[in-house]
Amino acid sequence: MNALAATNRNFKLASRLLGLDSKLEQCLLIPFREIKVECTIPKDDGSLATFIGFRVQHDNARGPMKGGIRYHPEVDPDEVNALAQLMTWKTAVANIPYGGAKGGIGCSPSDLSISELERLTRVFTQKIHDLIGVHTDVPAPDMGTNPQTMAWILDEYSKFHGYSPAVVTGKPIDLGGSLGRDAATGRGVLFAAEALLRDHGKSIAGQRFVVQGFGNVGSWAAQLITEQGGKIVAVSDITGAIKNKNGIDIASLLKHVKENRGVKGFHGADSIDPNSILVEDCDVLIPAALGGVINRDNAKDIKAKYIVEAANHPTDPEADEILAKKGVVILPDIYANSGGVTVSYFEWVQNIQGFMWDEERVNTELKAYMNRGFKDVKDMCKTHNCDLRMGAFTLGVNRVARATTLRGWEA
Ligand SMILES: NC(=O)c1ccc[n+]([C@@H]2O[C@H](COP(=O)([O-])OP(=O)(O)OC[C@H]3O[C@@H](n4cnc5c(N)ncnc54)[C@H](O)[C@@H]3O)[C@@H](O)[C@H]2O)c1
Repeated sequence: MNALAATNRNFKLASRLLGLDSKLEQCLLIPFREIKVECTIPKDDGSLATFIGFRVQHDNARGPMKGGIRYHPEVDPDEVNALAQLMTWKTAVANIPYGGAKGGIGCSPSDLSISELERLTRVFTQKIHDLIGVHTDVPAPDMGTNPQTMAWILDEYSKFHGYSPAVVTGKPIDLGGSLGRDAATGRGVLFAAEALLRDHGKSIAGQRFVVQGFGNVGSWAAQLITEQGGKIVAVSDITGAIKNKNGIDIASLLKHVKENRGVKGFHGADSIDPNSILVEDCDVLIPAALGGVINRDNAKDIKAKYIVEAANHPTDPEADEILAKKGVVILPDIYANSGGVTVSYFEWVQNIQGFMWDEERVNTELKAYMNRGFKDVKDMCKTHNCDLRMGAFTLGVNRVARATTLRGWEA
């Protein structure tokens, strides 16, 4: 099942539990606006190249739309649509005053020079500057984009609208980025895992974790879990997979990855088949790489007791059913990885206030948001007698439905 079909299915299940009427359901499901633009730039050799950029703005009932911009050769409109919708439910679960959006440009960033990437980002911004804004739609980095990309968008947007640091988040600190944003999603994953384990009478210390993906989210989560006494027994990335049942020394692995651009060849662990990473023996599995990796082919072999979804939509609905029967508890993406967008919200607040917080305040506020989020999700599980995924979906969908209804329907 593709990402959009899976997201729509979860939305409809939640809508049924909430008893929403069909007109409201339609209104919540269909995106507010879908933008598709042609971006032509001169390449460094003087030839012209054309790329297609787009932005799906899903919903703004609770506040400005919020979501990443990705640069990837296979930017798939259906997936971006699903991710925009997931952002709407995620910001509502986190209880931050935003809606949801997502966008991207179909390009291979590694095949473009820095100046070509800058020109492409500026042309894309010129095409959409009237449709984004501090109180309209606030982009952020995603796959293939980074704080530098946000700096170019900020600069180009400001040519049309004046100095507007809050128009994007995930900026470099020198341009108004927030302290703690880099680690925020991984730190949020730690707080989410802590809340889940606490609910089951356990703590991070002494639990064995497997992490798929050792990029921004996976490496921060692994580092912070280790600091709390958790044991990371296996890790994988695009270059390979490694395992050490006594626990991997994450500080040494980080050094190795910096020098070798991947986990492959790390001496402090044994190399294993990357296809086996998700079915390795552990207490907590953290998928932090791609969508759709847990599916009907591998779900029955998963040995973890808990899955904390750091990646977006890593679990297929069919796998959800198989894992539920096995008693595996899944902490869903729209709660578990919401630490990133929550600190993006703190960045936006700091920019609007013109007052920068210290990192301790950012981390303390993030912990409070993640703990409140877990309690709110659990309350919905009790009300609707459902699992954590439906608890999170009913929580998010209900908050957006209430805001939409309160705004009223009169034209
Ligand atoms: N960065 C954020 O703030 C944030 C927020 C919410 C959700 N997410 C989601 O978390 C996931 C990871 O994001 P990120 O920012 O860490 O990305 P990243 O690009 O920094 O890291 C991705 C990691 O996944 C690895 N990977 C890629 N293909 C793989 C494969 N086939 N097998 C194993 N590993 C593979 C890469 O080698 C890399 O280590 C994505 O699903 C993203 O949408 C990220």
